[in-house]
Amino acid sequence: MLPSWYNEYKQKIEDSMKNYLDNYFLENKNEVLSDFKESIYYSVAWGKRIRSILALEFYLLFSNKTLVDLDLESKDEIHDIIKFCIALEFLHSYSLVHDDLPAMDNDDYRRWELTTWKKYGEANWVLVWDLLNSLAFEILSELKDQIVWLKLIKRFGNSVWLYGMIWWQILDLYYEKNNKDLTLEKLIEVHNKKTWALIEFSVFGWILLSGFKWSLEKYLDFWKKIWLAFQVKDDLLDVEWTKEETWKSVWWEKKWFVYFIWIEKTKNYLNELIDICLDTIKILKSQKLEFLVSYIRDRKK
Ligand code: IPE
Ligand code: IPE
Ligand code: MG
Ligand code: MG
Repeated sequence: MLPSWYNEYKQKIEDSMKNYLDNYFLENKNEVLSDFKESIYYSVAWGKRIRSILALEFYLLFSNKTLVDLDLESKDEIHDIIKFCIALEFLHSYSLVHDDLPAMDNDDYRRWELTTWKKYGEANWVLVWDLLNSLAFEILSELKDQIVWLKLIKRFGNSVWLYGMIWWQILDLYYEKNNKDLTLEKLIEVHNKKTWALIEFSVFGWILLSGFKWSLEKYLDFWKKIWLAFQVKDDLLDVEWTKEETWKSVWWEKKWFVYFIWIEKTKNYLNELIDICLDTIKILKSQKLEFLVSYIRDRKK
């Protein structure tokens, strides 16, 4: 079971996402839009919010604040770190929306429901992707701290495009067809690219927003390992769990890590990565962070 603080963080992020969209669509009462509006809410619903919860906890820890302080500081407005979390979740959700398309992974289920293209059709899918993509940038442009905003926006663009998510999708599709070219080293590179784009961005986000100046390198390395662990676990989930348990379509063939080193060694590798991460954050003495790191290993979906 998730601890109550995790659910509180999640609720805060989800309420803020919903409020943001409610305000965004407020002006437009046109009936014709209603299907599309619904598909936007649908596409951002139900995630674990693990990326934004990690970024939020790092931010709170390093700026010595609690969730309540965010409300006190920003009164009627959305706090900068929460805006940042909304942008992160919108961007992550659209990456899943496009990942599920027939031309990509051709998946019918995501987060326990039909995928966006399956439920709302391909035309809506393209438009959902377009809107979530530009909204993510628009939200960042609304950060009160304009210097942080200027620093973040270019990194955000870079990480999504050529050297991040898009590169990974191209590699992923290439190895899908040419799996004899794939080695374990290349696989680790692909896995790193896959999630690293967004993660690197989220590390810079909380670091800049909390005004923290300590060793960036150490934390970048931590995040790289934790997200590699996340991907390794994702491969294990695909093999060991059913669709009902994982929330999404499950594939049985050509299982990346498991395909190379089998289940037991994959589990050992996962444990090694998690142990290194736990060791890195020991100095921070944060039970919440320790929980989040262990949750990456123990999660069932
Ligand atoms: C799924 O990410 C995509 C991968 C990078 C493996 P999550 O497992 O965080 O997805 P949600 O947001 O919780 O559905
Ligand atoms: C999707 O990766 C993650 C992106 C960065 C687009 P996968 O295809 O491996 O993840 P699932 O299994 O569909 O969630
Ligand atoms: Mg994929
Ligand atoms: Mg997929």
